[in-house]
Amino acid sequence: MFDHEKLKVFFRDKIVDFSEANISIANTGFLYGLAVFTGMRAHYNEEEKKLFLFRPDEHFERFCFSCKLMRYENFLSNFDYDRFLSVVIDLLKANSIQQDTYIRVTNFTDENKVTPKLIGYSDSLSMFLYPLGDYVPTSGMRCKVSSWNRAADNAMPARAKINGLYVNTGFAKTEALLDGYDEAIFLDDQGHVVEGSAENIFLIIDGVLVTPSRSNNILEGITRKSVLEMAGNIGIPVVERNIDRSELYRADEVFLTGTGAKVSPVVEIDKYAIGDGAVGPISKVFQDTYFKAVKGELPEYSHWLVDVYK
Ligand SMILES: Cc1ncc(COP(=O)(O)O)c(C=O)c1O
Repeated sequence: MFDHEKLKVFFRDKIVDFSEANISIANTGFLYGLAVFTGMRAHYNEEEKKLFLFRPDEHFERFCFSCKLMRYENFLSNFDYDRFLSVVIDLLKANSIQQDTYIRVTNFTDENKVTPKLIGYSDSLSMFLYPLGDYVPTSGMRCKVSSWNRAADNAMPARAKINGLYVNTGFAKTEALLDGYDEAIFLDDQGHVVEGSAENIFLIIDGVLVTPSRSNNILEGITRKSVLEMAGNIGIPVVERNIDRSELYRADEVFLTGTGAKVSPVVEIDKYAIGDGAVGPISKVFQDTYFKAVKGELPEYSHWLVDVYK
């Protein structure tokens, strides 16, 4: 573990001390949630003494879409994938990271004005490292279907990782925690299952992996994409479709996926046991495969990884 406030960060256009990376109280991004982000992980393989970044190309692609939606011209015109990746690698090296690390990447509206608009303002990139352990319990969590709906695509698209959207996450997560649960599950306006507060969701029903489709107002998670790729290798059929609330209680297994959450089985939802109330065997296979893949222990997934100190 490290103290992230003692590390170097990337701010605007260079690597500086954490204490030097500050924005004004009048910053427009701060005032209105006008910023976009992604969270990546780098995993340290003790045996090989290697640090592996997980799918930075996918993060870059999704981050660019978020920037496009927010009309962040500085980022889009100044960063291609190679430059983005070199900033991430330089930051990890500047901090001599040799342990599991979470990398928070933000592009924010960098003006001190009070009109919440997306044109005519400058935008800047920032990155810091964080010692994120398990974001949720990984050995069987208890979830609550939230009384808060996921914001609709035509209001605040979940497909982009816009900072302001995470107020919606905050409402759901807080309600779940106050009610004694580990995590919240969002429904949409029609009552279909969308995702966890910061995770995608998968159900196993009669041997089939079922997950909401991309048009169900989800964030298109990179862990979700990885699980769908793993399913092909593991030999489990996949269906992406609308999921009713009651299917959660009927499912044989449920798990959530995300950079923070990793692959985390759910054993109870709204006080209904999922399956027999223990971590299911198929969820365990996905979790084990994921844990090995991110550490570079499975050659078939080595194309997902970037070796930082190579
Ligand atoms: C709302 C939401 N859905 C899903 C995910 C999972 O996405 P990923 O696997 O890319 O981390 C996250 C986390 O980033 C999230 O915030």
